[in-house]
Amino acid sequence: MLSNRIINMKPSMTVNLTDKLEALKREGIDIIRLNIGEPDFQTPANISKAAKVAVDNDFTKYTQVAGCIELREAICRKFELDNNIKYHTDEIIVTTGAKQALNNALLTLCNKGDEVIVLTPCWVSYIEMVKLTGAKPVLVDLDGNEGFKLDIEIIEKVICDKTKAILINTPNNPTGAVYNKKELLNLGKLAIEHDFYIISDEIYEKFIYGDNKHISIASLSEDIKKRVITISGFSKTYAMTGWRLGYAGGTKAIIKAMANLQGHMTSGANSIAQKAGVEALLGSQDSVEKMINEYKCRRKYLLDRLRNINEIRCMDSKGAFYLMPDISKIYGRKYRGKTLINSIDIADFLLEEAHVAIVPGIAFEAPNNIRIAYCNSLENIKEGMNRIEKSLTKLD
Ligand SMILES: Cc1ncc(COP(=O)(O)O)c(C=O)c1O
Repeated sequence: MLSNRIINMKPSMTVNLTDKLEALKREGIDIIRLNIGEPDFQTPANISKAAKVAVDNDFTKYTQVAGCIELREAICRKFELDNNIKYHTDEIIVTTGAKQALNNALLTLCNKGDEVIVLTPCWVSYIEMVKLTGAKPVLVDLDGNEGFKLDIEIIEKVICDKTKAILINTPNNPTGAVYNKKELLNLGKLAIEHDFYIISDEIYEKFIYGDNKHISIASLSEDIKKRVITISGFSKTYAMTGWRLGYAGGTKAIIKAMANLQGHMTSGANSIAQKAGVEALLGSQDSVEKMINEYKCRRKYLLDRLRNINEIRCMDSKGAFYLMPDISKIYGRKYRGKTLINSIDIADFLLEEAHVAIVPGIAFEAPNNIRIAYCNSLENIKEGMNRIEKSLTKLD
C-alpha cells in the first residue's frame, strides 16, 4: 500500500500531457508544442565549455552540501548586483533545480497543521509541495481583470495564527504578472505584523517586458529580508533545464537547516553543473540578452495574433514567457457533436484538431484560461497560431 502522502498527491497535468504527446508522435502526427516552459535555446557555449573543463579537471566528487564556495560567492555577487540583496556565503544554498530549493524551504519551515498561502493562478507544483509537508495550502484567487496583481486586502483576509508562510512568484508562471515595489512592501509589512515567512520564487526574474522592473522583496528592508527565502535558478535564464541547478538565499539559521535536510536527501548539487553555474553567473551575459530580445519579439507576435481572434480575450503580460488567454467564450460550442465545457476540453480539441499542445488553465487553478508558452521558435508560434485559427472555424 502506498503512503497517504503519495495517494493524496495529484498527478502533474503537464506530465500527463507529455505522455499523450509522445503517443501522438509515435503515430507520426506533427504537434506544435506551445505547452512546455522550457527555453528552446541551447545552453550558451561558454557555460557548456566550463562543464567540460570541470570533467577534464576531475571536478567530479561530492561538493559541500550547500554548494562549492566558488559558486556560492558568485551567487552572492549576483544577488548584490542584480537584486540589491546582500547575502553572505553561509546564507546561500545551491540545490538540484529551483524545485529542490522550494521543497527544502517548505519542509524546513512547515509543520502539520500550519497554513501556507498560495496565490492562484499558480505554478502546478506549489500546492502539492505544500501538501507534502503536512501543511495546508490556502488558496487566494487573484483577479484576472486586475492583471492578477498582488492584492494585499484579500491576502490579509486569510491570515490567521496558523499562517506560516506565503509563496509568491514574480514574474509569474502562468499569469506573467510582475509585482511592484508598493505591493511587495505592503506584503513585507504584513509578514512582519503577523509573523510569517515569504518564499519568493524569482526564477523568471530576467524575463521582464515594457518598463516593468523586477523587485526582490528581500531587498526592501532588513526586517523584511529576515522573513524571506529568495529562490532562483539557472533553468530559464541560461537555458539550463537539464543541468538541474538552482539556489536559495535566506537567514543563516534557515539555510543551515535547509542544508541539513538536503544532506540527508541528495547532498550537494551535481559538481559539474556547479562549475557551469559559476561561468553562467560570472561569464558574458550576451547570450541572455539575445534570448530575452527574442522572447520580446515572440511575445508581441503571439499577443497580436491572440487579440485578433474573436473567441479569445488576452491580457497583456509583464514577464516570464507565457500568455494566459481567457477562452471561456468558447464554452458551450460543439466539436464533432461534443460540447466543450472546460479548459481541458479546449486543450483536447486544440490537440486533436489543430495538433497544437497548450496547457489547460485548470492545471494552474485558472479554469477560464489556457496557458501558451512562447519559448518556442517564432516559426512554430506562427504555424501554431495559423492552426488554432483554422481549427476554431470547425466549431459549431
Ligand atoms: C515558477 C517556477 N518555479 C520553479 C520552477 C522549477 O525550476 P527548476 O528547473 O530550476 O527546478 C519552474 C519550472 O517550470 C517554475 O515555472
